[in-house]
Amino acid sequence: MAPEAQAKKKSIAEILKSLFMPYLSETDELIKILNEDYSKEMALAHMIDEHAEIIPFDFLREKLKKVAEEERKHAEKLKQKITELGGTVNPSPKAYAIKTSSIHNEKGFRKLVADLEFDKEIYEDYIAQMNRIGNEDVKKLLREIVEDEMKHKDILMDVVMRLC
Ligand SMILES: [Fe+2]
Ligand SMILES: [Fe+2]
Repeated sequence: MAPEAQAKKKSIAEILKSLFMPYLSETDELIKILNEDYSKEMALAHMIDEHAEIIPFDFLREKLKKVAEEERKHAEKLKQKITELGGTVNPSPKAYAIKTSSIHNEKGFRKLVADLEFDKEIYEDYIAQMNRIGNEDVKKLLREIVEDEMKHKDILMDVVMRLC
């Protein structure tokens, strides 16, 4: 290859590199956010499952178990997206620890109120993220999850109102 052509090739490579650098860091940021979401969904699923056991009525317990199942599906979808983006699932101990310890300190059915509050917090996180994220694929996923979260709010509210 002529030195001139080689120089030209190099400069294109440089241009591409500089073009993709911001993209790469944006992807890293997305993976970080989705990992945080993943951790919260897993923590919430675990807690709702556990707290369903304190409910003395089968039909209400089943309602909660279904919500926990959906949270796990959300976590699974987030995991898939993280992998698609080239990342790995790296559960955040912070998201687990803060929530599990504060919710476990609640007494009796107050645990369910704390679950409801945590679910609402996750919902609000998604809304904020949808406004910040540019990636249309990720936005679409978050939008799908948010639709379920809106139903969870009603279900959890109903269960809490019947018990507390
Ligand atoms: Fe969820
Ligand atoms: Fe939820």
